[in-house]
Amino acid sequence: MAQLTLQPSGKAVDVAAGTPLLAAILAAGESIPHKCDGKAQCGSCHIFVQEGRKTLPRIQKLENDKLDTLVGVSSKSRLACQTLMGEADVTIELLGFV
Ligand code: FES
Repeated sequence: MAQLTLQPSGKAVDVAAGTPLLAAILAAGESIPHKCDGKAQCGSCHIFVQEGRKTLPRIQKLENDKLDTLVGVSSKSRLACQTLMGEADVTIELLGFV
């Protein structure tokens, strides 16, 4: 288990390694758009990883291809539905893009 901190609320939850961040965010009771239900097709679950970015599994082609189509993408960008929790604490920012 590692700690996932959600900004801007500041809520922190323990999450098992390998859990999709989208599932962890929803289980924590936070709201995040996820129009395609985790298929990397909509981009609405776009988040910024503020801390712990390098501890997360690398971006795969499906996620990378979708990120390439979004506006406001930065080196901190991930899709919550495609990003699995790692073994270390992470802080993410929920952007609320739709
Ligand atoms: S829920 Fe659609 S890309 Fe993540």
